[in-house]
Amino acid sequence: MHHFEYGSNGSMSAEGVDLERIAEAVGTPTYVYSEATIRRHFAVYDEAFSGHPHLICYAVKANTNASILRILAEMGAGADIVSEGELFRALRAGIPADRIVFSGVGKTAREMAVALDAGILAFNVESEPELHLLAEVARERRRTAHVSLRVNPDVDAKTHPYISTGLRESKFGIPIGDARRIAAMAKDMASLDVVGVDCHIGSQLTSLAPIMEALDSVLALVDALAVDGHHIREIDLGGGLGIPYDAKKANPPLPRELGAGVIERFRGRSERIILEPGRVIVGNAGVLLTRVLFVKQTPDRTFVVVDAAMNDLMRPALYQAHHEILPIRRVRQVGGVARPVEVSVASADAPAAESARAVESVGLHESLEPRDPQDLQEPKDPQDLQEPKDPQDPQDPQDPQDPQELLHVVDVVGPICESSDAFARQRALPKVEPGDLLGIMSAGAYGFSMASTYNSRPRAAEVLVRGEAFHVIRDRESLEALVASESFAPWLNEGGAA
Ligand code: LLP
Repeated sequence: MHHFEYGSNGSMSAEGVDLERIAEAVGTPTYVYSEATIRRHFAVYDEAFSGHPHLICYAVKANTNASILRILAEMGAGADIVSEGELFRALRAGIPADRIVFSGVGKTAREMAVALDAGILAFNVESEPELHLLAEVARERRRTAHVSLRVNPDVDAKTHPYISTGLRESKFGIPIGDARRIAAMAKDMASLDVVGVDCHIGSQLTSLAPIMEALDSVLALVDALAVDGHHIREIDLGGGLGIPYDAKKANPPLPRELGAGVIERFRGRSERIILEPGRVIVGNAGVLLTRVLFVKQTPDRTFVVVDAAMNDLMRPALYQAHHEILPIRRVRQVGGVARPVEVSVASADAPAAESARAVESVGLHESLEPRDPQDLQEPKDPQDLQEPKDPQDPQDPQDPQDPQELLHVVDVVGPICESSDAFARQRALPKVEPGDLLGIMSAGAYGFSMASTYNSRPRAAEVLVRGEAFHVIRDRESLEALVASESFAPWLNEGGAA
């Protein structure tokens, strides 16, 4: 479950903090994260593997904010890093070096040296040339590098091609057929110790079958490596478990289902399981808060122009990714009384009845356990008890409006000069007006961490909520910071004009 819910005042809050309050205090666009959601997701994932020795190395790239890394450090997480920058962040947040694994196809000698000196748990080595360079760097520094061979098991992860990594033609990993030869080569290099085998087949996986297929290939390889005289202590299955983004689609498998399947295969085995989840820990713990600037009507379309853009959240532009978009306030006046409006978040192409059924879809973001309908809809204010049970019911005499009339098919777009700068196309949303706040849901993973300053838009603020408290964990970037590392070439005239 996550902790973004509509309160009895009809306004969405993160845990105990009204999102309108955060928008007032911090401005928009702003990422808001729920600490309780992150903790819960980590705990549920950890619990799923509790039947076997394991280590969860959170994939830092999903969300790199210092406070978020600190929360996970407190919970005992390790880190999966892909750069010196991520190593720096992880160590700074208090994640112990001996819980850090280093992934990526292009590690530099410098990055290897820094990571070796820090004493990381393992390098997930992705190619033969990388193995040679690592051996050389370790030798120079008189250290032993722990190596986990990242293999490419050639399975189709059945996810978006841009985030699929386990197919033979992808740039990732050592072809599984070459692994024994490369392991033998590594065995002869005194500065290397092959401790593990690793794979990661892709991200936003919505079925367990490809992961299990990859695992079976990896286990067969580990057994073959044992015959070859290697002592493999760790098997790293990467990350990749998907989260629910779209209220209309079936939920991806739960961590508990993944854990059960994996542990079953590890029965009788002694290797430690390493996992590198990113999205499933933080994805549904974040919302991008944005304000409506204009509602622009053209003969063909209604554009809701918001103050967030593809530079803040590029997933829709880059992967045609779906994010639910919800109004932060869903109160309307009925007979002079403010009451919550049931909001559909289903897309325009969903039949009307389905739209109506999707009214509770904010709850469908609960990625980690089946939802208890009581969770979200329980009235918190005694006044609510006077509300009719089903405010959508057209028979309700107090409700003169057909709820379907409240839905408008719109494109939600940002201000950037690119046609791809759209968060949703042809989406049914309740009527919005300039100044209204919207929440772009499930934005905690690969949101801020992929943000840029394109169009010279300073990057958004980030806020962390714990219970009734909130804190700005990253200031909105200032214009000064935007240009701080640029300089004028000395031969250019001061003051501009020649
Ligand atoms: N381990 C490795 C080696 C990875 O490459 C990744 C993600 C992960 C773990 C974590 O995967 P997760 O559990 O978060 O699915 N920007 C894309 C996702 C790119 C994922 C890259 N690698 C998106 O917004 O969907």
